[in-house]
Amino acid sequence: MRHSSPPPSLLFLYPLFIISISLSSFPTASPSSTHSKTSLNRGSSLSVEDEDNFLTSLDGSFSCGFYQVGSNAFSFSIWFNNSADKTVAWTANRDHPVNGLGSKITFRGDGSMVLTDVDGTVVWATNTSSTDASKAQLLNNGNLIITNSSGSVLWQSFDSPTDTILPSQPITKQSKLVSSIANGALSSGYYNLYFDSDNVLKLLYDGPEISSLYWPDPNSQVFQNGRTDYNSSRHAVLDNTGRFLSSDRLQFNASDTGPVIKRRLTVDYDGNLRLYSLNESDGSWNITWEALAQLCNVHGACGRNGVCVYDPVPRCSCPPHYGMSDEGNWNRGCKPLFNLSSYSPTKDRFIELPHTDFYGFDDGYTKNVSFESCKKICLNDSSCQGFGYRLLGAGQCYPKGAFFNGYSSPNFPGSLYLRIPRSVEASKFSSFEVSKLTCNAFEADNSTAGSSGMYVINRRKAIWVYFYGFISAFGVIEFLFIASGKRVLDWEMDMRMLVRLVKDKIGNEDESWVEDLVDMRLKGDLNMKQQRPWQ
Ligand SMILES: *[C@@H]1O[C@H](CO)[C@@H](O)[C@H](O)[C@H]1NC(C)=O
Ligand SMILES: *[C@@H]1O[C@H](CO)[C@@H](O)[C@H](O)[C@H]1NC(C)=O
Ligand SMILES: *[C@@H]1O[C@H](CO)[C@@H](O)[C@H](O)[C@H]1NC(C)=O
Ligand SMILES: *[C@@H]1O[C@H](CO)[C@@H](O)[C@H](O)[C@H]1NC(C)=O
Ligand SMILES: *[C@@H]1O[C@H](CO)[C@@H](O)[C@H](O)[C@H]1NC(C)=O
Ligand SMILES: *[C@@H]1O[C@H](CO)[C@@H](O)[C@H](O)[C@H]1NC(C)=O
Ligand SMILES: *[C@@H]1O[C@H](CO)[C@@H](O)[C@H](O)[C@H]1NC(C)=O
Ligand SMILES: *[C@@H]1O[C@H](CO)[C@@H](O)[C@H](O)[C@H]1NC(C)=O
Ligand SMILES: *[C@@H]1O[C@H](CO)[C@@H](O)[C@H](O)[C@H]1NC(C)=O
Ligand SMILES: *[C@@H]1O[C@H](CO)[C@@H](O)[C@H](O)[C@H]1NC(C)=O
Ligand SMILES: *[C@@H]1O[C@H](CO)[C@@H](O)[C@H](O)[C@H]1NC(C)=O
Repeated sequence: MRHSSPPPSLLFLYPLFIISISLSSFPTASPSSTHSKTSLNRGSSLSVEDEDNFLTSLDGSFSCGFYQVGSNAFSFSIWFNNSADKTVAWTANRDHPVNGLGSKITFRGDGSMVLTDVDGTVVWATNTSSTDASKAQLLNNGNLIITNSSGSVLWQSFDSPTDTILPSQPITKQSKLVSSIANGALSSGYYNLYFDSDNVLKLLYDGPEISSLYWPDPNSQVFQNGRTDYNSSRHAVLDNTGRFLSSDRLQFNASDTGPVIKRRLTVDYDGNLRLYSLNESDGSWNITWEALAQLCNVHGACGRNGVCVYDPVPRCSCPPHYGMSDEGNWNRGCKPLFNLSSYSPTKDRFIELPHTDFYGFDDGYTKNVSFESCKKICLNDSSCQGFGYRLLGAGQCYPKGAFFNGYSSPNFPGSLYLRIPRSVEASKFSSFEVSKLTCNAFEADNSTAGSSGMYVINRRKAIWVYFYGFISAFGVIEFLFIASGKRVLDWEMDMRMLVRLVKDKIGNEDESWVEDLVDMRLKGDLNMKQQRPWQ
């Protein structure tokens, strides 16, 4: 709309801008100072295209800004500058990456800091609008803070952790750490660390099908686990020497306790909670504490009917007469290769899987029963897929209505009896099969991280739109020249030359420069940036 356009003198510059970028290869490596910013003032912004599109803490240990998560996808994150893989400690938009062009972090005039995508959509914002916020700054401890002119903190990244806490960053009633979905990815996964309603700090698998607590040991009472549920302050913190203290009496120390070392406590994509120390000499991380010594005690990883086995590293497997539901995705688990509705109360047999259990989903629990009685309880229930039986003094019987959180470990003091219809030719069970070829839940692939269909471009259409834009831009020039009463004789020649140039570029299939300029998600429609010159 013309009324909102800049004055004509500026409009005239736009086509020149386009010409210059179309002739050079974009993005241009703009010469920038090697000193990165340490703070952002109200009214200023960081652009994803800028070379120094990030802030750095005064001591240089943390950076904060645009972090590449896919071929054309970026997040607004805080990362360890000195770790070899630039490990991320916090992300504002983990599930909504923004475009590699036109995206911005702006400290708006109203006091809020916002992340906008190429089309201007606000993807994330702080709650500091209509405050007197004046400065955003990344502290040496990795906390991004927004302060007003008297130095009061109005917002801080420490209040909204993602999957990691840093020393001096508390876990509170309000905070919840959520793992990432795969190794190297930033988007949200299924494992949570939080203070439960009983005041105990817990790890929970919160997946699409089920939720299940797995730490501290769900088979033991609060006090047996060394915790208390009486302190309702719900506050835990890792200090600068590597000592962790929680209001539920959980406490542990890093194996390398002492100051100076950079540490992080992370809920990893595999569901374990680990404390890491940074080796500044080679940028690697060393594990200095972990919540679960046995990874198969993590719930959910192998999906419905799946079993976690040690091979000797943890892997997923299916019980006999069950097969993988979705080759390549253990989250979907296993499915029976027989018809569940063909269970019969008299004819079915059971296959013993020694030292194996599916945690939870018991149809009942009976103490002090014989093996034969337990079997009958299961047979008599058409939804019973099998039962767990333990001989700890008297027999304990756990008929199962569904199989989740399966694991097999030589230490487990019981067996799982799998119900198989008589019609199925039952094989004798020897051990779990582990397919080396099948992608494992514990080594989830990170190759798809951040790259999604939304960043695919319809090239032909985009070129056409861009070419149309060129013509329109010259229409604006023409208008201006006529309006200003000037006659430029060779204007038409210039235009013909440029049109030929554009045609050449298209003809040569050299389309990369177009891709750089077009917002791929708009499927060839104009984006804000492209519209401005000829609006
Ligand atoms: C990041 O760390 C390296 C090596 O420790 C250092 O040379 C560099 O200046 C740091 N970067 C920033 C932006 O501080
Ligand atoms: C923003 O939210 C945080 C955490 O919820 C709160 O501590 C802070 O006071 C809020 N800031 C403003 C300016 O509302
Ligand atoms: C800064 O914020 C604090 C807390 O919101 C407020 O008490 C103080 O007056 C503010 N300072 C200025 C200079 O506005
Ligand atoms: C509860 O935990 C807090 C630490 O988060 C501690 O300061 C406080 O003394 C504890 N209260 C009791 C009654 O133990
Ligand atoms: C951790 O270290 C502190 C002080 O060095 C010590 O008092 C405490 O008992 C240690 N905690 C554990 C769980 O080892
Ligand atoms: C840090 O890494 C270097 C080089 O890999 C190694 O020699 C050193 O032992 C490591 N330090 C620690 C504390 O692990
Ligand atoms: C990690 O730290 C521990 C304890 O300091 C040390 O024994 C171990 O060798 C370290 N591992 C690596 C890979 O540096
Ligand atoms: C399972 O059995 C039921 C009834 O016996 C039948 O209707 C159904 O089609 C069977 N399903 C499969 C997959 O064989
Ligand atoms: C278990 O059952 C037997 C007989 O059925 C009984 O004698 C015994 O006292 C029971 N034990 C417990 C712990 O209930
Ligand atoms: C089997 O189930 C029926 C009802 O569902 C019940 O009346 C009967 O007692 C059960 N039999 C056994 C052996 O548990
Ligand atoms: C996943 O990330 C890890 C570390 O970031 C890397 O070593 C590994 O090669 C990556 N795997 C794939 C399939 O990209």
